[in-house]
Amino acid sequence: MANIILVGAQWGDEGKGKIIDVLTEGADIVVRTQGGNNAGHTVFLGPKKYVLHLIPSGILRPGKQCVIGNGVVVDPLGLVQEIDGLLKLGIKVSPKNLILSETAHVVFPYHRELDGAREVAKGKNKIGTTKRGIGPTYGDKAARVGLRMIDLIHPARFAEKLKARIAENNAVLKAMGAKPLSFAKVHAAYRAAGDRLKPFVANTVVLLHESSRRKANILFEGAQGTFLDIDHGTYPFVTSSNTTSGGACTGSGVPPNRMDRVVGVMKAYTTRVGEGPLPTENAEVADLLHAMGREFGATTGRARRCGWFDSVATRHATMVNGIDELAITNVDGLDTLDTIKVCVAYRVGAKKYDYVPNDIETLAQCQPVYVEFPGWKTDTTRARKWNDLPAKARSYLKAIAELTGAKLTIASVGPARAQTIFL
Ligand code: IMP
Repeated sequence: MANIILVGAQWGDEGKGKIIDVLTEGADIVVRTQGGNNAGHTVFLGPKKYVLHLIPSGILRPGKQCVIGNGVVVDPLGLVQEIDGLLKLGIKVSPKNLILSETAHVVFPYHRELDGAREVAKGKNKIGTTKRGIGPTYGDKAARVGLRMIDLIHPARFAEKLKARIAENNAVLKAMGAKPLSFAKVHAAYRAAGDRLKPFVANTVVLLHESSRRKANILFEGAQGTFLDIDHGTYPFVTSSNTTSGGACTGSGVPPNRMDRVVGVMKAYTTRVGEGPLPTENAEVADLLHAMGREFGATTGRARRCGWFDSVATRHATMVNGIDELAITNVDGLDTLDTIKVCVAYRVGAKKYDYVPNDIETLAQCQPVYVEFPGWKTDTTRARKWNDLPAKARSYLKAIAELTGAKLTIASVGPARAQTIFL
């Protein structure tokens, strides 16, 4: 299988959890490299539904090693809760199959408080964050005042650093009208989580290189999506990490020349949670999908905004990620439509764009230029082979892959592992 980077080609929630789970079959190691518990990867195994936030979904398959890399921001209390939740469901989680980077930064309650307070202060310009403290944690990392897992598991060092951080953040929180935090309470809870997580903490860079030398197959599982990338997304309506393929290298310590291919995951239509421009947003598509009980967030339960497939965006994603192969998910979400629209360009007045403009104000004015495809009006959820799909569905999928500029290799027609068509 080689070393594969998997990324979301849209605004997150592309159905990556399921594709990662399917690709994990051929992997020895699965690595998370960015983001935190703002992510929510849903995997269905038979009648059971698992929502993973920090732990790679490889944990659900026996014999796979899972790594939380240096680029991830870890809420230790959330991680302990996730481990306990999996153990309760009968999934084995131990330092044998889960390894946590000692240089991953730690999310604290003041990060979450600040995340919430900044959103309130922004008012109608709010980002619509998951309020998991992700932005402030990466902010501290860049400002070189963050605490890392290595600090958390060294009690004396941890207490000293935390005291200083709480003092500074309490002053900021008070100024923003939020409640200050008690050092004693935060310290006690975090030290308990630190003791619990200590056996999982290791030098993951060395581990990944040793595994790579032994020719292990590594899957780098992306969280969020291309247009939530801090550099390449619709800034400031983005998350605070590099969600594009380069983030897999910096967030793991595995260099670009050890990567073999990039798989992009995209839905057969478009969705987004949170604020920010979404050129193909469409009420008819949203009503249809919500009425089917689809498109509610795995982490926050928020109804996702929905729209037609946007090939300007996915073509851009191919460019910045170097996508070689495509997995198209949620094909069955379009099963009932008479006509399906695909955006092939944007227009602002007389100017036409075939790429995503960097200026957020220009992007907000972009009007989609659509081409129409006939709907297949057939239930696709029982298709298991490419030729089981209706001809019109095959034409649609081939067309959106071609517009995106990469090779279509997987089509998914439902949440179950069996509902996966390999081309
Ligand atoms: P944050 O990552 O919580 O700071 O949120 C920033 C933006 O990214 C918001 O629009 C969120 O809705 C979005 N976001 C963060 N994580 C995910 C995800 O896993 N899927 C989809 N959107 C996400």
